[in-house]
Amino acid sequence: MNIRTIDWKNNKVRIIDQTKLPQRLVYLNLDKIEDLWQAIKKMQVRGAPALGAAAALGVYLGVRNYPGSDWPGFSRKLNTAAKYIASSRPTAINLFWGIEKACAAAQENNKKPVFKIKQAILEEAKKIMREDASSCRKIGDYGSRLLKSGSRVLTICNAGILATIDYGTALGVIYSACDQGKKVKVFSCETRPLLQGSRLSCWELNKQGVDVTMIADNTAASLMAGGKVDAVIAGADRIAANGDSANKIGTLNLAVLCRYHKLPFYIAAPQSTFDLKLKNGRGIKIEMRDWQEVTRILLKKTVAPEGAAVINPAFDVTPHELISAIITDKGVIRMPYVKNIRKILRGK
Ligand code: MRU
Repeated sequence: MNIRTIDWKNNKVRIIDQTKLPQRLVYLNLDKIEDLWQAIKKMQVRGAPALGAAAALGVYLGVRNYPGSDWPGFSRKLNTAAKYIASSRPTAINLFWGIEKACAAAQENNKKPVFKIKQAILEEAKKIMREDASSCRKIGDYGSRLLKSGSRVLTICNAGILATIDYGTALGVIYSACDQGKKVKVFSCETRPLLQGSRLSCWELNKQGVDVTMIADNTAASLMAGGKVDAVIAGADRIAANGDSANKIGTLNLAVLCRYHKLPFYIAAPQSTFDLKLKNGRGIKIEMRDWQEVTRILLKKTVAPEGAAVINPAFDVTPHELISAIITDKGVIRMPYVKNIRKILRGK
């Protein structure tokens, strides 16, 4: 893959501005923590694993100009940067995981000169990017075994290259199957309100030469009823210890439809998306976003009367009973989830 969603280049964080796709491929070079915070909030960079890397790099941007040479002062600056980045978006655990990793790297090196501590944070962020690239390939490898040549896969939002570093989770499974010579057909739900499915998934699948057909979100049921779908694969933003999985709003609809139509419903996610401190999905904080994302198409053309009441949750939680398997970089996890998640992720 030659597209990189987020990178460290010329002492700046380089991201693809995803709000400009599919019309234009625009890169942004960010060197201030405030600009990175905005980019996360506005979803110029988005998708759980990409947010993990962005968060760690954000912490680095927040501390790199600290002028002092004392650990206590540096540590206060680090806390401020961590809290600030953590306030950008609440649902994807990867964002908090990336912050924790960056802070832990600083803590482990706190006896060294401050410039070395800064270096350690940057190295940790680079490691997160390297590891994401390799874990997505493992997810792809495990998941591709669930697909045959001729499989027709429906997906939602964008859990591809643009949501990770350079490969994807749900779409990584498809890329991996295609790399093995299997013919896979993809249906991409447009994903109202911000259209990550049509704008981003269709864009990158097209670029990778994968057969993709865009559908309006409300077309999924009739495609399934017509026998045109073999499986649904979605990404995740946070997975609780019992397998309940938060992902883009509308994912739950697809899981319910799969149960009715007796189709497998898979979640694909790296280990960093699991929140084993949460017993179940009820504790997952769901981001509520601006109502104008719903009343105006891509915040431009108005499609609702002035003053219409709106709720705009960005994610929903699919209960584990509706999930056929969770495809991870450690293997494919099936029910009973509490036991098997622990066993596969923690080796217990
Ligand atoms: O609001 P977004 O676009 O950040 O939501 C992204 C998703 O819901 C993805 O499916 C999820 O982060 C998994 S990405 C591999």
